[in-house]
Amino acid sequence: MGKYLELLNREKMPHHVAVIMDGNGRWAQKRGMPRLFGHRQGVETVERVVRACVKLGIAQLTIYAFSTENWKRPQEEVAGLMRLLVEYFDKKTDQLNEEGVRIQVIGDVEALSDLARQSIARAEEKTKNNDRLGLNIAINYGGRAEIVRAVKRIARQVQDGVVAPDDIDDEMISQQLYTKEFADPDLMIRTGGEMRISNFLIWQLSYAELWFTETYWPDFDIETLAQAVYAYQNRDRRFGGLKS
Ligand code: IPE
Ligand code: IPE
Ligand code: MG
Repeated sequence: MGKYLELLNREKMPHHVAVIMDGNGRWAQKRGMPRLFGHRQGVETVERVVRACVKLGIAQLTIYAFSTENWKRPQEEVAGLMRLLVEYFDKKTDQLNEEGVRIQVIGDVEALSDLARQSIARAEEKTKNNDRLGLNIAINYGGRAEIVRAVKRIARQVQDGVVAPDDIDDEMISQQLYTKEFADPDLMIRTGGEMRISNFLIWQLSYAELWFTETYWPDFDIETLAQAVYAYQNRDRRFGGLKS
C-alpha cells in the first residue's frame, strides 16, 4: 500500500471530489505520439480513479471531460474525443452498473451528435438506481454557460409571475444548475500543472479545497488521489468563520 493511502483518515473522506483531467495531449507528445493516444490513455485513468473512489468511500466524483471551449481544437481532435466518449459509455456502462456506479452527464448535451446523446441517455437510464458512487461527467460543460442558463430560467419564472426578484437567492440559483442534486465539491484536483479553473464549476467551487499536481492525467493513480485527499484532510476549512 502506498504511503499516502496508509495515512488517510477514513472518517474524514471528502464527500464530493471534482477533477480537471488535464495533460493527456502533453503526455502523448512527450512519447512522440498523437494527442488522441493520450486521450485514450486518459480513459484508462478514469476507470482506475472510479475504482479508487469506490474503494475509498468517496460518494461523488465529477470529472471534466470536454469544456464549452474545447470546440476550438482541431476538428480531428474534437471528433476523436467524441468517439472516445461514446465508446466509453457503450463499453463501460455494464461494468460500472455492476459496481454500483450511477452515471450522470452535466453540460449542454443538445449540441452533441444523436449518437452521443443516445449513448449518454442509455448509460444514465441503466445506472439510475445505483448509489455506491455518483460519477458525473462534464461534457460540453462551461461554468459560465451553466450560470447563463440558470439566469434565463429564473428570468422566465419572473416573467411568468411565479418568482419575485427579491425571492432570488443562492439556493434558487443552485437549483437551476446541472449539479442541483449534488452537494458542492469538497476537493478539486487539477492534473497537468496548470493552476487555473478553466470554467469548471465556477459557482460550486466557492469553498472547495484546491489541489494541483504536475502529474499528467494518464499517470494519475490511486496513490496520487490519496495524496490529494491527505492534503485535503490537513486543511483547515473555515468557510469564512474562525478556526474550529
Ligand atoms: C485533457 O487534456 C483534457 C481534455 C480537454 C480532454 P488536454 O487535451 O488538455 O492535454 P494538454 O493539456 O494539451 O496536455
Ligand atoms: C480543461 O482543460 C478542460 C478539460 C479538462 C476538459 P483545458 O486543457 O481545455 O484547459 P486550458 O485550455 O489549459 O485552460
Ligand atoms: Mg489541457
